[in-house]
Amino acid sequence: MRTIIEPFRIKMTEPLPITRREQREQWIREARYNVFLLPSERITIDLLTDSGTGAMSTQQWAALMLGDESYAGSRSWTRFHDTLQEITGYRHIFPVHQGRAGERLLAQTRVKPGHVIPNNGHFDTTRANLEWAGATAVDLVIAPGRDLALDHPFKGNMDVDKLEDQIRETGAENIPFAMITITNNSFGGQPVSLENIRATRRVLDRWNIPLILDAARFAENAYFIHEREKGQSGRSLQSIAQEMFGLADGALMSAKKDGLANIGGFFACNNDAWAEDFRNMLILCEGFPTYGGLAGRDLEAIAVGLREALELEYQIYRHATVKYMETKLVQSGIPIVRPGGGHAIYLDAGAFHPHIPPLQFPGITLVNEMFVAGGVRSVEMGSVTFGKADPKTGQDTPAPFELVRLTFPRRVYTQSHFDYVVEVVREVWERRDRVPRYEMVKQPPFLRHFSAHYRPVS
Ligand code: F0G
Repeated sequence: MRTIIEPFRIKMTEPLPITRREQREQWIREARYNVFLLPSERITIDLLTDSGTGAMSTQQWAALMLGDESYAGSRSWTRFHDTLQEITGYRHIFPVHQGRAGERLLAQTRVKPGHVIPNNGHFDTTRANLEWAGATAVDLVIAPGRDLALDHPFKGNMDVDKLEDQIRETGAENIPFAMITITNNSFGGQPVSLENIRATRRVLDRWNIPLILDAARFAENAYFIHEREKGQSGRSLQSIAQEMFGLADGALMSAKKDGLANIGGFFACNNDAWAEDFRNMLILCEGFPTYGGLAGRDLEAIAVGLREALELEYQIYRHATVKYMETKLVQSGIPIVRPGGGHAIYLDAGAFHPHIPPLQFPGITLVNEMFVAGGVRSVEMGSVTFGKADPKTGQDTPAPFELVRLTFPRRVYTQSHFDYVVEVVREVWERRDRVPRYEMVKQPPFLRHFSAHYRPVS
């Protein structure tokens, strides 16, 4: 059959609020024009993030009941540990309550002021944690990764020549580790090839620099490799994942994405000294190393979820949903990052609202207009999220792109929901010249997108 179906059926439903335009206009005003500040009961379709927003399977719900809540050495820990050891191959495994907890502990234990951490693309929390520790976080994605409309199978790849230049310039002694983010969330959710991880590894080996994967969406990346990389289509996703992890010295992961869980994460590595330092800080900040800030039942849900994320049928369905929306938006002439990402479609808000300059936040305009049009919540990934106010002058620097991410929660929305979202985007597209621009009236010193306040300017 040619129709790709959801490889599951629905056993429990959760009502969605159907709201009116006048209500939404009032609610966005009350939220200071920041959709992060909207209560979820005012959202019809929530595409803010794929993080912790997925639906768990019957197997995961059953596993929750097996949760062993012993403080130390629980059965759930053993299952979590054994699953991760099989998939990653790493010697030391540490649960953390979510991805950024692992980032903070790694930064605290390994990063010093003056260090430089190269990555194909740092996620915002990774960058913020490294910068908080005094390091400079640099993005070295290949040039096609910065060309929004260009079709390329592995736009998330690391530019290995730039990496080599960076190492020469900084000195290997100032680079405690390099990272690769799979998939590259900050640059369109684009994948990284096995070949590129191998090439990165070869450069780092010459300088004796360890490689850490940010593996939040490792299973989606494995599927892209299976589909797009020569000679990989006959392999299981698990075997591809094992090879990706095997090419690195360790990994950070937010299990809220490809762990198919609502909370959790891990750090894993082979280096005994790194593990010792991490363990000590984990106990200080998160919890005993066999639970790391999670309940035993969460460890169970993650152990099951990691395996489900590696099922080929699940990934075929998941990628078909993104492709479905991508095709419909492209047919309508709507500017998006090509090709669609693993977990999201990224609208090019700069091309959508070319009359709005970056520092009047075209992405915020698009996000707010989609909410007003149909109660769809999306997220800005442009000059608010990745731009910055200079601490001395207060002057803003814009981000390289103005993107808006329509993120796909896992196993949550159906085809008619996606049709509805396309209709909402088209409605905004048709009146794209008659929309407000914004100024920021309040912002915190870091990760400002979460809590900033805005005001429309005419
Ligand atoms: N790394 C990547 C690539 C991420 O996308 C995220 C989170 C993190 C690390 C941090 O993990 O949220 O569990 O602390 N991304 C979410 C998003 C928030 O919406 O893309 P966390």
